[in-house]
Amino acid sequence: MTDLYDLASKDRLAFWADQAKRLFWHKPFTKTLDWSNPPFAKWFEDGQLNASYNCLDRHVIAGNGDKVALLFEGEPGDTKTYTYSELLSETKKAANALVGLGVQAGDRVAIYMPMIPETIIAILAVARIGAVHSVVFGGFSSESLRSRIDDAQAKLVITADGGYRKGKAHPLKEAVDQALADGNCPSIEHVLVVERTKNEVSFGPKDLWWHEALEAAASEHVAVGFDSEHPLFILYTSGTTGKPKGILHTTGGYLTGASYTHKTVFGLKSETDIYWCTADVGWITGHSYVIYGPLVNGVTQVIYEGTPDSPSFERWWQIIAKYQVSIFYTAPTAIRTFMKIGREIVDGHDLSSLRILGSVGEPINPEAWNWYHQVVGGSRCEIVDTWWQTETGSILISPIPGAFKTKPGSAQRALPGISVGIVDENGVPVERNVAGYLTIDEPWPSMLRGVWGDPTRFKETYWNKFPGKYFAGDGARFDEDGDIWLLGRIDDVIKVSGHRLSTAEIESALVEHHWVAEAAVVGAKDEITEQAVVAFVILRQDEIADAPSETDIAKILRDWVTQKIGAIARPRQIMVVTELPKTRSGKIMRRLLRDVAEGKPVGDVTTLADSSVMSAINDKLHSGASD
Ligand code: PRX
Repeated sequence: MTDLYDLASKDRLAFWADQAKRLFWHKPFTKTLDWSNPPFAKWFEDGQLNASYNCLDRHVIAGNGDKVALLFEGEPGDTKTYTYSELLSETKKAANALVGLGVQAGDRVAIYMPMIPETIIAILAVARIGAVHSVVFGGFSSESLRSRIDDAQAKLVITADGGYRKGKAHPLKEAVDQALADGNCPSIEHVLVVERTKNEVSFGPKDLWWHEALEAAASEHVAVGFDSEHPLFILYTSGTTGKPKGILHTTGGYLTGASYTHKTVFGLKSETDIYWCTADVGWITGHSYVIYGPLVNGVTQVIYEGTPDSPSFERWWQIIAKYQVSIFYTAPTAIRTFMKIGREIVDGHDLSSLRILGSVGEPINPEAWNWYHQVVGGSRCEIVDTWWQTETGSILISPIPGAFKTKPGSAQRALPGISVGIVDENGVPVERNVAGYLTIDEPWPSMLRGVWGDPTRFKETYWNKFPGKYFAGDGARFDEDGDIWLLGRIDDVIKVSGHRLSTAEIESALVEHHWVAEAAVVGAKDEITEQAVVAFVILRQDEIADAPSETDIAKILRDWVTQKIGAIARPRQIMVVTELPKTRSGKIMRRLLRDVAEGKPVGDVTTLADSSVMSAINDKLHSGASD
């Protein structure tokens, strides 16, 4: 593995060209990178390829069509296996069905689905015809779905009658109906519905069953090559403002990053490994490490539909033992949840097949790292703590198995081909053991190509703070050995159970309620979920006619946020206050509110316009008058 570091440091672009050549190119590229107009990068620009062909046809043509691609485990216990050949023939039919519905290269298709094989088929079918998928996590509300459909001007939605979660058939089509109600989302021409739960659904003129459309479709479909910079997908993620950003990834560079990192970071032995990443395809981890990375690399992987606790917390460990999973990739929140329950839940299962354990989405604290290592990995597995973002497309910082000794809590080194810096406010590199801002100093193939429809926001958010460098939004430090320790977000983005949320987005959802005059949201430290949403609200007394109690108000507002954004954004706590701490220029001092929410002594209040505000909030809190 040290060879990779050497190769990349000798000639970074030649290194990336070599990685890209692991893909199948319908037309080989001759240029590796055009960085003449930063931050707009073009990778492998004159090459052409097809993402779906790289995930499927290629393996079948190479004689591996009978290899199992997906081992699907439904939450109720149903199972289904797809070989690469079977996945390819379903994807071909789906591609033909999409063409039949008028979807063309460049059109956007929204996908709002549970974790079932059809979701993967739908995504690969969209990519196969050069259309652009925009997957919306099935836990988002109909309003969130609506705004994402509108922003991307999607032509089609692919959904399901429902999906199983926590032992229940969770409706999805209903949310699509709500999103499209009253003439909303006029760009949508059709809704394709996969039958999964047999939930009752209402069908209107735009709706079609997926299975009927596939049955009627021709079974042959020839995948053509698209330009390397052809858009592959948009994925919305939270930023510092209220409006989620549509992060755009393009074909050649993204596939190079996803497949190279998947192979390298997990030390893949594609012949024998059984791989399982627990992420939902609604998030970037599902895109890069359930769909594109593993399928390009031709692995056999487990797909599980439901939650870890259904029907009991034994479920994940049963699945690992049943399928003999060798590479397991999950989030620290899950590990901390199991830690709290106790090791007995894990100990009863044969996990001896495990070889590599991955962590993603938030910093993993050394206690959780050690527990993962000892209890899950039997002290014999390597742990790869992988740092990356929706925007980076693939893992950028992580140990490589066997390359050096791992350290609990540190994501360690930039991968070969990636240049990382840590700088102070003025862009000057900081000394070792000093905290600073994490930057990526050279372009990389799977970097985002833009924010959908908003080039200014792309430049301002990521490239203006430290000119010429990508600003990640995370704090970090190098230790004395040069290993990287991630210190969390330095902006108003928060991470709850590894999910990325914007405090501003939750605040705007709250003030949309007619009771709320003003709101401030913070991410307070949480033992299990890393951070939790805590909101402070000022009420409009005139609007609350029958004076419900503050507990009732808090409950109603928490439900409101769930309805507006989705259950992942539901505040853990809402405190009703009469004023918010603000600087003289009117900026809310979230730092002080975070102290209150975490039960810590409140920090320096001297810059507040009115320093008594914090004592009022504190007094109220300690008198118990909050939810
Ligand atoms: O703060 C970092 C945190 O997750 C953010 C990116 O979130 P998202 O775009 O949703 O992607 C999550 C999955 C890649 C980062 O800015 N983060 C991600 N992985 C780690 C991490 N923080 C610390 N350690 C990690 N391994």
